[in-house]
Amino acid sequence: MEYTNIAYVISAICFIMGIKMLSHPKSARKGNSIAAIGMLIAIIATLIHPDNYLENGKPLISFQLISIGVVIGAIIGGFAATKVEMTQMPQLVAIFNGFGGGASALIASAEFYTQYNQNPTNFMLVTIILSVVIGTLTLTGSFIAFGKLQGFISGKPITYPAQQLLNGIMVLILIVLGNLIVSNSIELNYFYGILAISAILGITLTIPIGGADMPVVISLLNSYSGVAAAATGFVLMNNALIISGALVGASGLILTQIMCKGMNRSLTNVIFGAVGGDYSNASDKTQELNIKSYSTEEAAMIFEASEKVIVVPGYGLAVAQAQHAVREVAEWLETQGKQVLYAIHPVAGRMPGHMNVLLAEANIPYEQLKDLDEINPEFEDCDVALILGANDVVNPAARHDQSSPIYGMPILNVDKARTVIINKRSMNPGFAGIQNELFGYDNSIMVFGDAKDMLGQLMSDLKEL
Ligand code: TAP
Repeated sequence: MEYTNIAYVISAICFIMGIKMLSHPKSARKGNSIAAIGMLIAIIATLIHPDNYLENGKPLISFQLISIGVVIGAIIGGFAATKVEMTQMPQLVAIFNGFGGGASALIASAEFYTQYNQNPTNFMLVTIILSVVIGTLTLTGSFIAFGKLQGFISGKPITYPAQQLLNGIMVLILIVLGNLIVSNSIELNYFYGILAISAILGITLTIPIGGADMPVVISLLNSYSGVAAAATGFVLMNNALIISGALVGASGLILTQIMCKGMNRSLTNVIFGAVGGDYSNASDKTQELNIKSYSTEEAAMIFEASEKVIVVPGYGLAVAQAQHAVREVAEWLETQGKQVLYAIHPVAGRMPGHMNVLLAEANIPYEQLKDLDEINPEFEDCDVALILGANDVVNPAARHDQSSPIYGMPILNVDKARTVIINKRSMNPGFAGIQNELFGYDNSIMVFGDAKDMLGQLMSDLKEL
């Protein structure tokens, strides 16, 4: 028992170190491995716990079944981690969260079945109910989030009359049923009722949220899966599960907060606002913009005359997988004596840290990556701001157009640069579904094309100058 708790403390230290190291791209990989080692220590300590063995040393648990589970899980996890595209990562995280919540609900349910006719304590019943409710709604909510992001379900908010009222009634029924179980009779039917209503609530809470806000919801569901795990930890009186669940719960909540701040949205607005990026009048405004389309050859001449270049990566760079191509262009510019920096917006791309991870993959030096507050003052004395597949995060409407859905979102002030070179494939809008007035500004020029192809062509044009 003593040894188990020491092992749990060591794994908790690994988890905390892992999370700390994940906050910087340079140490993130190592942090991930350290946290994984922490989890391995916790699993081994749990499996060799004396409670799992009879006095004659025979195990009470089936190591054969556990090994089969480990092998199947490792194959699925390994396959998903290597095969899933970076841009599909939010969907993958959604599924993992769902499974985490589902696992907590299943363990708590199993404990309910073993305990319900053995006079369990109120504390035990409350933790079981909490774990089942949060775990089940995390499972169904996460699968709706996955479906929306993958395009299986409409990304638009799905609303119906008295939606919030009906959700409120379901929460009330859950409280009543939970109270009945704890205070009066432990009825299996009440328990089934709790399971069913939690599953429905997970769906009805998630469907009114638009696709654009899904990554925030996924982060929130991640936090819920942690809370469900911590509750299960109390059910089983397992310290490692309580600690790791609390860490996931807290870090998921902090991440949700960071994402809301980056989009200038409140959490209540995300959850109850039913906004989803269907701003169909966007294309009308394209007509009003005075677009100047340049070739890569013309763009190369502007770069040649420049001294300071700020690269602004966005979702399109990830789609094009142009991270290596941008590094090559930047390195060439540096050999020509120009300064190159990268501006990283907190919600550029489709998941937190998306651009950091993408650029780190191409070995772009971390010192050149500057966050929003650091880089914004730099645009004023910058010759070229090179926008690669970014759109919403550089839309000046966020600063002044109160009717814009992104009004108030902090943006990268690229328009302050002497010349803004924007690369994208067409005039299609970005995630928020709105046109970008920046494209028509006097100092803006567009170089249309896939980011990787454009950068490849730009590179050869630069070399030919
Ligand atoms: P977006 O505004 O989504 O714009 C991406 C642009 O990339 C599109 O306009 C698209 O235009 C272009 N593009 C796509 N494929 C391309 C390719 N192969 N080559 C070149 N360009 C390509 O991206 P952003 O500026 O990074 O902003 C992120 C958006 O996602 C924000 O609205 C943010 O609020 C939202 N969001 C982000 C997060 C996180 S955590 N990152 C979470 C929730 C929501 P074309 O089709 O014309 O090429």
